[in-house]
Amino acid sequence: MNVSFIRNANGLISRQSELKTIGKEIIFYEETVSTNDDVFMLSEEHREGLVVVANSQSGGRGRHGRWWFSPPGVNLYFSILLRPNVLPDKITLLSLMTSVGVVKGIRRYTGIHTSIKWPNDIMIRDKKMGGILMEARTERGKIDVITIGIGLNINMTLDMIPDEIRGVATSLRIESGGEFDRFRLLEEVLEQIDCLYGEFLKGGIKGIINEWLALNSTIGHKVIVLKII
Ligand code: BTN
Repeated sequence: MNVSFIRNANGLISRQSELKTIGKEIIFYEETVSTNDDVFMLSEEHREGLVVVANSQSGGRGRHGRWWFSPPGVNLYFSILLRPNVLPDKITLLSLMTSVGVVKGIRRYTGIHTSIKWPNDIMIRDKKMGGILMEARTERGKIDVITIGIGLNINMTLDMIPDEIRGVATSLRIESGGEFDRFRLLEEVLEQIDCLYGEFLKGGIKGIINEWLALNSTIGHKVIVLKII
């Protein structure tokens, strides 16, 4: 392992790291509204690769305007600041790349096999244990800042999950019976994403797509396409 975290009195996580870009700088909040918003707010003073982690979020959001349940002390909520100098048509690949990094990081630390449901839900069997929300800010028509927000359900128990999502959501603990060190898992996931991002910048897009396809649970299944107007 190349990374190690120390939480200091200010809530910052300092660390020794051999990471190239992602996770070289990490800011930890005990509570925030949304780590995606924090990344946008901090983007002027921080470099690409900044990671904002929160112990809980009061306004965690998911895709399609949904909320993301973010109770304290049990799960991981974090966002990554990116400023890739690539054409807009390559940007979607960043969220696929992130889902690959998450699945690989979980497998390395816990041995648990998760899969990706199109486009980037992290699943154990048919239940969702993680999600990725990529948002971009544009300036004069050009993408200026990208934030990739990741929510992973780690040690949440079934009774903690609100009724409205209990049928569809799960956690590593619910599925395996084990408890996990959230920050160890964060280290593994950041290491994987950092490595994949290096590949992405070098143009290794085909390799990332192949990994995403291999980890995908949607391929080979019938899907229903809903058009949202
Ligand atoms: C989804 O709907 O599947 C995406 C969920 C993304 C949740 C994460 S938690 C960290 C970051 N901050 C947010 O407000 N959302 C993302």
